[in-house]
Amino acid sequence: MKVTEALKTRISTRAFKPDPVSEAVVREILDVARWAPSGGNVQPWRVIAVAGAEKDALIDLAKANLPGDEGDRPIYPADLWEPHRSRRFKVGEDMYAILGIPRDNKMARLMHMARNFEFFGAPCALFFVIDTRMGHGQWAHLGMFMQSIALAALERGVASCMQEAWARMRTPLHAHFALGDTEMIYCGMALGYADDAAPINTLRSDRAAVDEIAVLRGFES
Ligand SMILES: Cc1cc2nc3c(=O)[nH]c(=O)nc-3n(C[C@H](O)[C@H](O)[C@H](O)COP(=O)(O)O)c2cc1C
Repeated sequence: MKVTEALKTRISTRAFKPDPVSEAVVREILDVARWAPSGGNVQPWRVIAVAGAEKDALIDLAKANLPGDEGDRPIYPADLWEPHRSRRFKVGEDMYAILGIPRDNKMARLMHMARNFEFFGAPCALFFVIDTRMGHGQWAHLGMFMQSIALAALERGVASCMQEAWARMRTPLHAHFALGDTEMIYCGMALGYADDAAPINTLRSDRAAVDEIAVLRGFES
């Protein structure tokens, strides 16, 4: 698979077949993704991979702690501004349109949101741990590692969905995984084989055009 194809075909998959992802495949994905760059090569990440009963225990943990709490590191900034606000709104509306859930059906929207805490049916999940002493740079580098995992997974036919929703469960996850005092969960990621028959997986988010996000200066050709 070419890099361009991988970048353009990776999507957030939100319905999975129950088929397990083997430990060997997860190890291979991590073995490839660990080559992601990081400033000073500090590799500011740790991963916890769960499947089977370990994954089910987390679904139970989330159910017992819903709706959870974002704590002092909210998922989005307060009062998200343009153009980001409209982009966020649009992908949400596009998703609920596919699911046939109207804007005023708050309960159905919440129920779909809660599917995050079942990993959308994925048989396997990753949790990304970062040390709270790390700065904003290292958080960005962790993101590179996560995208590398998503692409390495895709190459092996394994679909993914990054899940910052799990940030709402940081406190119970910290205790569950017996993390160190300075460690915290940043994000989860569902991994598995996509259920191609599920309408939700037809969602294709759009992107701002290059000229909206970039300025190119000084080129002679
Ligand atoms: C760090 C990160 C966290 C995310 N968390 C969630 C999440 O909790 N639940 C969810 O359904 N999607 C989540 N997403 C998926 C985004 O909504 C998605 O990447 C975006 O809408 C673009 O769509 P695409 O991934 O299909 O290209 C997350 C994405 C990223 C990068």
